[in-house]
Amino acid sequence: MFSFENVSCGPLKNLNFKIERKERVILFGPSGAGKSTLLFLFNRLYSPDSGTIYYEGENIVNQSVSQLRKKAGLVLQEPNLFPGTVIDNLKYGPSLFEEWEGKNGGELLEYVQLPASYLERDVEQLSGGEKQRVSLARTLANKPEVLLLDEPTSALDYRTAEEIEEVLDRLIKENGLSMIMVTHNLKQAERLGNRGLFLMDGTIKEDGRLPDMLNRPASRELAEFLEE
Ligand SMILES: Nc1ncnc2c1ncn2[C@@H]1O[C@H](COP(=O)(O)OP(=O)(O)OP(=O)(O)O)[C@@H](O)[C@H]1O
Ligand SMILES: [Mg+2]
Repeated sequence: MFSFENVSCGPLKNLNFKIERKERVILFGPSGAGKSTLLFLFNRLYSPDSGTIYYEGENIVNQSVSQLRKKAGLVLQEPNLFPGTVIDNLKYGPSLFEEWEGKNGGELLEYVQLPASYLERDVEQLSGGEKQRVSLARTLANKPEVLLLDEPTSALDYRTAEEIEEVLDRLIKENGLSMIMVTHNLKQAERLGNRGLFLMDGTIKEDGRLPDMLNRPASRELAEFLEE
C-alpha cells in the first residue's frame, strides 16, 4: 500500500521499505530517532528532502492531499479537537466531501464506546480519555484505510490507555484497516502490532515480525535498546 524509495527527510536517511495492506506496523526506537518524522511523511504533513513515496503505486505528490489525508487518518498523543461540540468535530471531515449523514454520529460514538448523548457535549468538558475517543471517532468518520497513530495512549493513565487500546484493536479488525503506530510501550507494541520497524539515528536498524523481534532481536542495536 505504501512504498518508500530512497527517502530522506530531516533526520531520516535513505529509507527503503514497503507496507502492505492490513499490516499493523509499530515504529519504535529511542527518542529523537525520527519516528514522528517518518509517521508524518505518510500523509504529507512532511515532504521528503529526496526520494519518493508511493501510495497504491502512485507517487503521493501527484495525489490530492485532502484525499490522502482522508484515507490515511492521523491521531496524535494530544487529542487536538476543534472548539465546539463532539458532533461538530465528527462531521467536519465528512462535510468537506459532502459525505456527512446525521445518523452517523451515534454509530461513530458507539465504536469508541461513548453514549450518543455525548454528541451535543462541548469538547472542553470531556476527560482526556474521552477526548482521545472522540479524536479516534473523528478520524473514523472519514472512513480511512490506514490509521497513523503517534503515541495515542501515552498521555493517558494506564487503565484508560488499555481501554483505548481495546477500542483501537476492535475498530482495526472490524473495518479491515491498516495501522502504523509510534509507541514507546513495548507491551502495547506486542498487543497491537504484527510488524516492527526499529528506528535509530534516522535509519531502520531492524524490520521484523512482532513479537518475535522483541524476544529474539537480530541486531546488536535492538538487543541493547531492549536491555535499557
Ligand atoms: N527538518 C529537519 N531537519 C533536521 N532535523 C530535524 C528536522 N525535523 C526534525 N528534526 C530532528 O530530528 C530528530 C527526530 O525527531 P522526531 O520528532 O521524528 O523523533 P521521535 O523519534 O519521534 O522522538 P520522540 O520519541 O521524542 O517523539 C529531532 O532531534 C528533531 O529535532
Ligand atoms: Mg515523536
